[in-house]
Amino acid sequence: MAKKAIEIKNLNFSYPDGTSALKDISLDVFEKECIGIIGPNGAGKSTLLLHLNGILRGNNHIKISDSAITKESLPLIRKKVGLVFQNPDSQLFMPTVFDDVAFGPQNMGFSKQEVQDAVSGALKEVDMLDCKGRPSHHLSIGQKKRVSIATVLSMRPEILVLDEPSSDLDPKHRRDLINILKRLEITKIIATHDLDLVLEICSRVILLDKGEVVAVGGTLDIFNNRQLLEAHSLGIPSALCRI
Ligand SMILES: Nc1ncnc2c1ncn2[C@@H]1O[C@H](COP(=O)(O)OP(=O)(O)OP(=O)(O)O)[C@@H](O)[C@H]1O
Ligand SMILES: [Mg+2]
Repeated sequence: MAKKAIEIKNLNFSYPDGTSALKDISLDVFEKECIGIIGPNGAGKSTLLLHLNGILRGNNHIKISDSAITKESLPLIRKKVGLVFQNPDSQLFMPTVFDDVAFGPQNMGFSKQEVQDAVSGALKEVDMLDCKGRPSHHLSIGQKKRVSIATVLSMRPEILVLDEPSSDLDPKHRRDLINILKRLEITKIIATHDLDLVLEICSRVILLDKGEVVAVGGTLDIFNNRQLLEAHSLGIPSALCRI
């Protein structure tokens, strides 16, 4: 049996204003699995992902590679779990693109040369090397998204957590992203409305709605269930549509 990369047991979370965003979520993610999290706007996808590296703490029922997320384990958890936010402005806060992508590796104790190599490698992957010296806040939204992805790739995480990674990407860079994700043989969790991306790279899908897990299953099993998808404001991926 494959080892668990993530174990979530009966997770509940409400925002300070009382909005109940996650209700009794239980889920195991196995090492090297690629999981798609789908569901309508407001389903709780981003809220769930923000729990996976301890940015949000519900009732603390999450384990990453067998360690609970605690104050003490947090630095280690953040090295293991690389999270790309839905909104790139939440990810990019340094003066330049280089500094943003170097931030993780520098904090992980990489040498100066290792930092340089990690930054160049990650920026090259997302085709943003030419913008290394530019202020991140001057970039277009899609460029910011690509740099956000690089800030996490540069840390070489064991678990990659991506919130809407393909949103705002042009078709070429969306395709590049899919190829990068296909190449990375690590655990991946991807929340997205891009169901074609999920179809291409995820073996399992979790459907969330109103903070609850509505369905878990093999990607094709879920995507062939038009009734289920339409009942939760989704549609079948275009690659499965027959005219
Ligand atoms: N900071 C916050 N304070 C209060 N409620 C919040 C906050 N952030 C999100 N919510 C609420 O929590 C619920 C889940 O939101 P979340 O952002 O996790 O949804 P989502 O599935 O990621 O949606 P989308 O597809 O639009 O990205 C929604 O009802 C949302 O309004
Ligand atoms: Mg979201």
